[in-house]
Amino acid sequence: METTMVSVIIRALILYLGPNKWARVDLEGKVNGTVEEVIHVPRSNSLQICLVKTGNSLPFVSALELRLLRNDTYVVPDVSLKKLFRRYYRQSDRLIRYPDDVFDRIWSPFFLPEWKQITTTLEVNNSNNFEPPKAALKSAAIPRDVNGTQLTINWTLDNPTEQVHLYFHFAELQPLEIEGNSSDFPADIIRMLHTRKFYIVVNGNVTVDSFVPLDLAVNTVETVVKKCEGGKCSLQLVKSESILGRPPLVNAMEAFTAIKFPNSETDPDDVVSIKILQDTYGLNKTDWQGDPCSPQQYLWSGLNCSYMNMSTSPRIISLNLSSHGLTGKIVPQIQNLTELQILDLSNNKLTGRVPEFLANMKSLLFINISNNNLDGSIPRALLDRKKLQLYFEGNPKLCGLDTCKISSGNKQNKIIVPVASAVAIFIVVSVLIVVFIKKRPSSIQALHSATTSLSLEGKMRRISYSEIQLMTNNFERVIGEGGFGVVYHAYLDDRQQVAVKVLSPSSSQGYKQFKAEVELLLRVHHANLVSLVGYCDEQPHLALIYKYMTNGDLKAHLLGKYGECVLNWANRLRVAVEVALGLEYLHSGCKPPMVHRDVKSVNILLDEHLQAKLADFGLSIFPLEMKLMFRLVLSALLDTWILSITKHIA
Ligand SMILES: *[C@@H]1O[C@H](CO)[C@@H](O)[C@H](O)[C@H]1NC(C)=O
Ligand SMILES: *[C@@H]1O[C@H](CO)[C@@H](O)[C@H](O)[C@H]1NC(C)=O
Ligand SMILES: *[C@@H]1O[C@H](CO)[C@@H](O)[C@H](O)[C@H]1NC(C)=O
Ligand SMILES: *[C@@H]1O[C@H](CO)[C@@H](O)[C@H](O)[C@H]1NC(C)=O
Ligand SMILES: *[C@@H]1O[C@H](CO)[C@@H](O)[C@H](O)[C@H]1NC(C)=O
Repeated sequence: METTMVSVIIRALILYLGPNKWARVDLEGKVNGTVEEVIHVPRSNSLQICLVKTGNSLPFVSALELRLLRNDTYVVPDVSLKKLFRRYYRQSDRLIRYPDDVFDRIWSPFFLPEWKQITTTLEVNNSNNFEPPKAALKSAAIPRDVNGTQLTINWTLDNPTEQVHLYFHFAELQPLEIEGNSSDFPADIIRMLHTRKFYIVVNGNVTVDSFVPLDLAVNTVETVVKKCEGGKCSLQLVKSESILGRPPLVNAMEAFTAIKFPNSETDPDDVVSIKILQDTYGLNKTDWQGDPCSPQQYLWSGLNCSYMNMSTSPRIISLNLSSHGLTGKIVPQIQNLTELQILDLSNNKLTGRVPEFLANMKSLLFINISNNNLDGSIPRALLDRKKLQLYFEGNPKLCGLDTCKISSGNKQNKIIVPVASAVAIFIVVSVLIVVFIKKRPSSIQALHSATTSLSLEGKMRRISYSEIQLMTNNFERVIGEGGFGVVYHAYLDDRQQVAVKVLSPSSSQGYKQFKAEVELLLRVHHANLVSLVGYCDEQPHLALIYKYMTNGDLKAHLLGKYGECVLNWANRLRVAVEVALGLEYLHSGCKPPMVHRDVKSVNILLDEHLQAKLADFGLSIFPLEMKLMFRLVLSALLDTWILSITKHIA
């Protein structure tokens, strides 16, 4: 990463560099504006500068300049350098910058009355990694007094605890010229005696010993000032002992305070993904500026992030764009938010398929894509994901999970299906016509709507066993006994009444049946089939959670267990027809088709409107022998008819 130098000219506001506070700027009384500068190594390929409003002033900036510096200069690990001053020592008004300075650092002239200026017209070699401009090196300050032995430079800090980093740029401007034989002493001795040699003393401590500047060539010295007592910093360049030696000099100097930028920027991959997402959906949110997660108090709305510690990049863990008028597809960039746990895209106008990649996002726990315009089917892999809550109701074109896929079953099946279902429909229809012409012609309408409402309930939850214990109040109320376990009454989310069928561990057939039932109910959704709300698969604890059927099972009704409230004929017929519709859907509406294999009045449940729903799919199969079907359809009707007739006679 290249080192970057940033300078900004502004009014009253707080500056953030990425997620970190950089400076507070107050332009009160500063008619010529002010400049803030920092040398900073960005942690990623992008850099965010935020101007945050203070009080009611509107943040503004007149200019923002970024300069690339070499990465072997101003190297201070873990901190950035906020400029205090950058001076060259000359009596002048001229700011030196590009093209004199190849990096376009801005050097201001500075001079004190107690100093004397020396300059040179000779060429000064400025080549080192800092490359201070030659124009700044060609002059220097020395003590005014001929016998002066030191130069003093003082400055104050706003914050006394700040560390100061100093960079001195020295060059000898008056090289010794020693004539061959004009003296009795050898030239090198004379040179030694007359050399400019000095100490650098900061706040009373010698930090650099016996420094000798190079003739007409730059030499950069770096020192760190740990602390300036009371914010007052004092620096002396002090001539070393030699009497003949010349006084100290300084050509140019830079001072910075070290500022820590503790908040890490959001993971760069997350930033890229969320920005693509922002662009794709044209999201125009005022607070979607700067770093998404950091600083935490300016977190983008609709996001939530994980903050491990200061040195770890925050990750986006939740994205809620519910009701944002999103259109188009679910963008693939979402999969690059690899730590995402919660994804809420509900209440938008999203179209297209539910992408398969959602199933591969390991950390996802919750997806809500309800109330959109998605189509196709929910990918199988997504439904099979453990510990994932998926909500997708209110997508009219989203159809029955995998069941919409064209069956790739063998040809024999395909031929038999239409024949078998045609028979089934014929029976159903002929029963209807006979009955409803006599009783209530308007009910045909109701039946028609039942046929078409192959609606998706759209809710399927994986529930833990401990939740099951809570929901059922520790298996308090038994409401039935199914093929492979006991059914309990429970409340889901403290509101919705549900029935929980718990697989008895002793049941040897149980697990197979449990699986058959889950698999079937994941695939099918029909007004006349019970719907699964959730399931628990924490072996050995297995349970299925159904919608609660207020009116119990048909058998109890037919046997008069509900006292006076015996089903009337119209209701009995309607139940028979609804069951037949449920079966017809299993046989010909599902691909591959399914057979219930256990149709009997206890497995026909009635909801609050006495609408019939087939239950107990534990023995169901995806049949290879479709010949079964005809008999089953008949048995559904006959079972009900026979029982009801029995009751009538009794
Ligand atoms: C603002 O700039 C002008 C022109 O450079 C200068 O004369 C004046 O002294 C400056 N004012 C302040 C307060 O620095
Ligand atoms: C300046 O000094 C560097 C080494 O310090 C040297 O390589 C270079 O040739 C010098 N340039 C000139 C113009 O003397
Ligand atoms: C998403 O935001 C909406 C509106 O702000 C809120 O109603 C909903 O509960 C949020 N979704 C999640 C999963 O928190
Ligand atoms: C996800 O990130 C990887 C690299 O980080 C990139 O190669 C890929 O194109 C990204 N995928 C999308 C859909 O942006
Ligand atoms: C899913 O989103 C829909 C529409 O915004 C909302 O009605 C429903 O409550 C959400 N489901 C959950 C579990 O948050």
